[in-house]
Amino acid sequence: MKIILTGATGVLGSHIMYEILELFIKKPNVDNKLYLLVRKNKTTSANERINTLLSSDYTPNNINKIGLNRLNEFITIIDFDLKTAQESFLKELKGAYLIHSAGYVNLSTDIELKEKIFNENVQLTKSLFSILHTYLKKFIYIGTAFSSGARKGLIDNNFHNLDFTPEHRNEYEYAKFHSENFIATECKAIGLPFQILRPSVIGGKMLGNENNFFIPKYMVFYLLAKFFYFTAKRKGKQEYVRFIINYQSSLNIIPVDYVAKVVAQTFERNDIEQLNIVNFKSFNMKEGLELIMKEVEYPNFSFLESKLNFEYENSIEKIYYESIGKHLKPYFISDANEYDTTLLNSILEIPKLDNTSFTNMIRYAIANNFQDSKV
Ligand SMILES: NC(=O)c1ccc[n+]([C@@H]2O[C@H](COP(=O)([O-])OP(=O)(O)OC[C@H]3O[C@@H](n4cnc5c(N)ncnc54)[C@H](OP(=O)(O)O)[C@@H]3O)[C@@H](O)[C@H]2O)c1
Repeated sequence: MKIILTGATGVLGSHIMYEILELFIKKPNVDNKLYLLVRKNKTTSANERINTLLSSDYTPNNINKIGLNRLNEFITIIDFDLKTAQESFLKELKGAYLIHSAGYVNLSTDIELKEKIFNENVQLTKSLFSILHTYLKKFIYIGTAFSSGARKGLIDNNFHNLDFTPEHRNEYEYAKFHSENFIATECKAIGLPFQILRPSVIGGKMLGNENNFFIPKYMVFYLLAKFFYFTAKRKGKQEYVRFIINYQSSLNIIPVDYVAKVVAQTFERNDIEQLNIVNFKSFNMKEGLELIMKEVEYPNFSFLESKLNFEYENSIEKIYYESIGKHLKPYFISDANEYDTTLLNSILEIPKLDNTSFTNMIRYAIANNFQDSKV
C-alpha cells in the first residue's frame, strides 16, 4: 500500500505517521511505502526532523525498537513544494492514499492574520489537489469538528448540505470549512473517493501506558493554562480576573493517540465519507477553567455570565483580553453542544475524559513547563 502523508512534523501528523508505520510492520508487504511531504525549517533538514520523531523519548516503543535504518526503508521524504517534482516521480505515487494533515491551527480573530490563516489552509489544500489528484486512490482530509462554526444541540457527521449558514468564530474555522467543501466538490466532480475526518480540540495521549498525557505542542486550552501559569509565577499580588462565560458552554477534547488510531482504522473504509473524531461528552467550560486555575495556582478569578458594560479592572485583565482571551472568548460564550458518536465508538472505543484526566493533561504541561517539542 502507498500512503502520502502531509503534516508529519505536527502534533497529529506525527502520531498518524506512527500508526501507519505500525500498520506496515504488522502487515508486511513489499509495496508498503510511506511518502512524507515535509519541509525543512531554519536549522533542520526534512530528513533530520523525521528521524528525530522516529527516535525520541516520545516515539512509541514498538516503532523506536525497529531502528531508524529499517524504518527508513518504508519511508520516502519529499519536499513539500511538489511544483518541482518530476513527472516520473509523480507516476510512482499512482494509486496512493493521501492523508492531508498539514494545516495552520490558529484561532486568532485578528484581521491582520486572516489572509495568512486562509492561505496556509486553503491554498495548500488546493495546490496539493491540483498536483496530485490524477495519481490518487483517495483524498483523506483532516478537517476540524469546528469547521461548521458555532453550533448547539446534537451534531452529526454530515457537514455538507447544511440547512443553515455556518457562523464561523474565526478565519481558521472558515478556512477549514472552505477546504472541506473544496475537496468534497472537486473529488465528486472527477469521481475520486474522498474522506473528511474531523478531530475536536486535540489533547495529550491517553491510550496505553507509554508517555501518558504527552503532546508535542501546547495549543488552545493549554495556552490559557500557560498564560495564567506564568502570570501566577510573577512576583507581587495576583490581580483579579473575570472570565466572561456562558455557564452551559463546553469544549470537546480528544486525545491525540486516539485520533491517530481512528484515522489509521478508517482511511480505507469506503462506507465513511465524513466522521467527527470527538469525545462523546464535551467538557463543561466553567468546570475546565476552575480545574486549570487550581492547577496553575491562580485562585484570584470569578465568572461573569453577561458581558454588558465590561471594562478592564486591572492590567492582567487587559493583557489577557487583548491576547489569548480575545481569541478564546467566542468559544467561552458559545451554546452547549454534543456530537453523535455512535459510528465513531463502533470503530474504536472513545476514552473517557473526566476531571482527573483533564487535570492530568494540565499537570503534564506544567511539569514540562509548556515547552513544545523541537523537531
Ligand atoms: N491541534 C488541534 O487541536 C486540531 C484540532 C482539530 C483539527 N486539527 C487539524 O489537524 C491537522 C493537524 O494539526 P496539528 O495539531 O498536527 O497541527 P501542528 O502541530 O501545528 O502541525 C501542523 C503541520 O502542518 C504543517 N504545515 C502547516 N502549514 C504548512 C504549509 N504551509 N506548508 C507545509 N506544511 C505546513 C506543519 O509543518 P512544519 O512543521 O514544517 O511547520 C506541521 O507538520 C490540521 O489540519 C488541523 O487543522 C487540529
